[in-house]
Amino acid sequence: MPIKKICCIGAGYVGGPTCSVIALKCPNIMVTVVDKSKERIAQWNSDKLPIYEPGLDDVVKKCKGVNLFFSVDIEKGIREADLIFISVNTPTKTFGNGKGRAADLKYVEGAARMIADIADEDKIVVEKSTVPVRAAESIMNILRANHKPGVSYQILSNPEFLSEGTAIDNLLNADRVLIGGEDTKEGLAAVEELCWVYEHWIPRKNILTTNTWSSELSKLAANAFLAQRISSINSLSAVCEATGADVSEVARAVGRDSRIGPKFLQASVGFGGSCFQKDILNLVYICECLNLPEVAAYWQQVIDINEYQKSRFSAKVIGSLFNTVTDKKIALLGFAFKKDTGDTRESPAIHVAKTLLDEGAKLHIYDPKVESAQIIEDLTYAIDDYHVKKSVSLYNDAYSATAGTHAIVVCTEWDEFITLDYKNIYNAMMKPAYVFDGRNILDHDKLMKIGFEVHSIGKQMQRCGVKRTWGSMNQM
Ligand code: NAD
Ligand code: UGA
Repeated sequence: MPIKKICCIGAGYVGGPTCSVIALKCPNIMVTVVDKSKERIAQWNSDKLPIYEPGLDDVVKKCKGVNLFFSVDIEKGIREADLIFISVNTPTKTFGNGKGRAADLKYVEGAARMIADIADEDKIVVEKSTVPVRAAESIMNILRANHKPGVSYQILSNPEFLSEGTAIDNLLNADRVLIGGEDTKEGLAAVEELCWVYEHWIPRKNILTTNTWSSELSKLAANAFLAQRISSINSLSAVCEATGADVSEVARAVGRDSRIGPKFLQASVGFGGSCFQKDILNLVYICECLNLPEVAAYWQQVIDINEYQKSRFSAKVIGSLFNTVTDKKIALLGFAFKKDTGDTRESPAIHVAKTLLDEGAKLHIYDPKVESAQIIEDLTYAIDDYHVKKSVSLYNDAYSATAGTHAIVVCTEWDEFITLDYKNIYNAMMKPAYVFDGRNILDHDKLMKIGFEVHSIGKQMQRCGVKRTWGSMNQM
């Protein structure tokens, strides 16, 4: 029986865009996205969606009310669906066993228990959330232990690989769709049903089918490999700064090797986002539980280098400003964890802001898409209400944010920061005026000609036309 109705539990960064694209490409399927958050569902049903994602508004506009619905009626959504995506959050545990490392599966378990309570017909349950290997087994145990008479379940793993900021393109033109299932007649039939949904727009050769555990582990592995590349290039950025090599040139040279490839070699203030850190910590925890300490230590290092890079960058800002930023005004350009999203989860900007505030700086913050309330919430959580009220001002544009400041710190690679009128900005700043480019996106030569003292990642800069010395390397 082809799938006629889909329900997705979780209307977040994954559930919302993924189901919008499914609705767009499968007009013959009724898609309902449900969430326990009334506020989030109200936003999906309004003109201002709860997340900023290029292209998402258009897709939602085309489908909403036709074959795409957002609802808090979870019971109805589950009861009517043939196939249910579980797309709830799986944050790092904050207490108890595995605190700070293991994935907290309470929301996944909650969703599974709701399905078991409500469903009175057979369902295909699809794990879309990122989970530890063998999580599907737990879902299966809950469903099969609580099933109503005559109701049977198939559990599939179908991890999501979209990146925020490019989610719609990633979903429309996915490199691959991964579906894991049980190697039984019923399991294979369920895999085929989900393949059929994706085949509405994804070529069959790009739909990979595997066993359930391979699918679950592949998701953690993909994020670990991507983050590892960033930590690798970031570790080399420190070597570049100490030697006179330029990390962009190194990345270009290394990335031209077709075996390595050029993507994900952009040195930065460090990676952020809701998933890289949480998923690698989860992988580390799994390895430790499997008594594989060497493997755990290997992946832990990807996180450690990221912490090192964020601290190294913040220390560079303070060190360059004569080792004190107390009462200095510093403009933070960008607060999102990457461009083209309003998401600030694990944003490196939070780390930088906290360090500068701890040192007594006054921050002027501007981000094109992050809501003011979100910035205040993140900083209040990281520091405290008193510090934030006393020392943080929010601005609606880069010019007013930078006026009268001692330094600009670029934390997010928003395109609009590249084309600002830096001559005007320089004129309105305190002197000497500093730029710390945490994303290596600005034209450093041009900035130095204007008069800025420029610091970037993985590159020694010239001050007033004079190349800085190599420090320790010259003495070797
Ligand atoms: P999110 O926090 O944006 O959304 C999760 C939603 O689930 C929330 O709105 C929450 O209210 C809802 N929810 C939780 N429990 C519920 C329940 N029992 N019933 C109804 N609603 C419930 O999370 P997200 O960023 O969409 O991530 C979801 C999963 O997808 C995570 O496992 C994440 O690792 C994975 N993932 C995220 C991304 C990404 O770019 N954000 C990409 C790939 C995979
Ligand atoms: C990442 C993966 O790219 C997705 O495939 C995955 O589905 C998702 O995590 C997830 O599981 O949540 P996302 O975190 O949205 O997607 O964004 P990325 O483009 O991967 O960027 C992550 C962080 O790395 C950002 O802070 C970004 O600025 C940084 N980054 C990225 C670099 O510092 N250098 C690079 O070369 C690339």
